[in-house]
Amino acid sequence: MSRFVCWVALFFGILGLIGWVEAGDEVTSRVGRLADEVTGDVLRWRRDFHAHPELSNREERTSRVVAELLRQFGVDSLKTGVAGHGVVALIHGRQPGPCVALRADMDALPIQERSGVPFASQNAGVMHACGHDAHMAMLLGAAKVLVQMRDALPGTVKLIFQPAEEGPPRGEQGGAKLMIDEGVLEDPRVSAIFGMHVSTDLDCGKLGYRFGALLAAVDRFRVTVRGKQSHAATPWKGVDPIVGTAHIISAVQTIASRRVDARQPVVVSFGMVHGGQAWNIIPERVELEGTIRTHDVEVRRLAVAQFHRIVRETAGALGCQVEIQWDDYGPVVWNDPDLGQRMLPSLARAAGQGNVVESPPVMGGEDFAHYARKVPGFFIFLGVRNEMAGAIHPLHTPQMRIDEAALPLGVRTHCLLAIDCLKQEAGRVSRAAEE
Ligand code: NI
Repeated sequence: MSRFVCWVALFFGILGLIGWVEAGDEVTSRVGRLADEVTGDVLRWRRDFHAHPELSNREERTSRVVAELLRQFGVDSLKTGVAGHGVVALIHGRQPGPCVALRADMDALPIQERSGVPFASQNAGVMHACGHDAHMAMLLGAAKVLVQMRDALPGTVKLIFQPAEEGPPRGEQGGAKLMIDEGVLEDPRVSAIFGMHVSTDLDCGKLGYRFGALLAAVDRFRVTVRGKQSHAATPWKGVDPIVGTAHIISAVQTIASRRVDARQPVVVSFGMVHGGQAWNIIPERVELEGTIRTHDVEVRRLAVAQFHRIVRETAGALGCQVEIQWDDYGPVVWNDPDLGQRMLPSLARAAGQGNVVESPPVMGGEDFAHYARKVPGFFIFLGVRNEMAGAIHPLHTPQMRIDEAALPLGVRTHCLLAIDCLKQEAGRVSRAAEE
């Protein structure tokens, strides 16, 4: 009798499994078909954003275009003006259930484009050199697909278009932090969030993932070194902040080379050094700006403390005064290992089994980190590198290009992450209710 029950259970178990796999395959092929249908649109939107880039907290046109398209698709709710120019939309499934979020960033960089593409930036000195044009276009593509798949959604998908990812201008607020302060993770409450970034280190057609720390914690500093102005011919009558600055810049290199455990990643870089007006005048002051990147809380604490100490004491030894301003741009982008593990099969279905690869840790930062500190998050890389397409230059450079052939994979990935995660979350909720 018990053996009979076992066989029956096994039989129905296998039937169920086949049914589930088939249902999964059906969703995958439906997503693939609908994603193919929107590919022309996605390319068009991406090129339009690319030609009209806007700096952080200035994404007025971008925001208008995004909102207008979402309205056309017939999303169920649309909020504009979130944290500046942010746009948040909801797509409700046929059945009620939990809510998962997909996030794209909107801003461009102060770079004069030299990529040579025919749809290059029409705004002098501003360029989508970090791929946020592609991020928006892919999320819009996913939105257009998902509104047609409401029957496959056991819950709600929240689409987050976030401004100022590159950091708001000095003196302004903005980005992920402000979106969270304005309630983007609430109403309905988000139970998981996904983000995607193009990668020029990863071949087109591949997805990169990593559990735990993926991107670095970012500290941004500004140092003012003050001396006493004098004639360049009589330096002993003043205090030279340029020589002071030279020593400071050299001395802080010892943080990475002498202080932090060599097996731990750390970077200290200066991006701006400004001082002086004439060749024969020792100036009053020099301004420095730069960043520290780390992957570990303890390393971060040590590097920041050591930076303050070296800057103050080096300046003091040379008779200069310093002022240090600190900006905690964001923590490590932490990928929730449990969520990531659960979503790996979705990545494989989107890209194909051999095309999902583990990514090494990256020293770049992303303010997605703030969301992933509040709710389980999973941030992945979309490969856009292709030598034949000239897509070999790194992000944040004037020559940066992407292979647009990667964009349909991005759309499929967004859709499958949202659908599969909603199913899993809905399953967890109903199991919890049964218990
Ligand atoms: Ni970026």
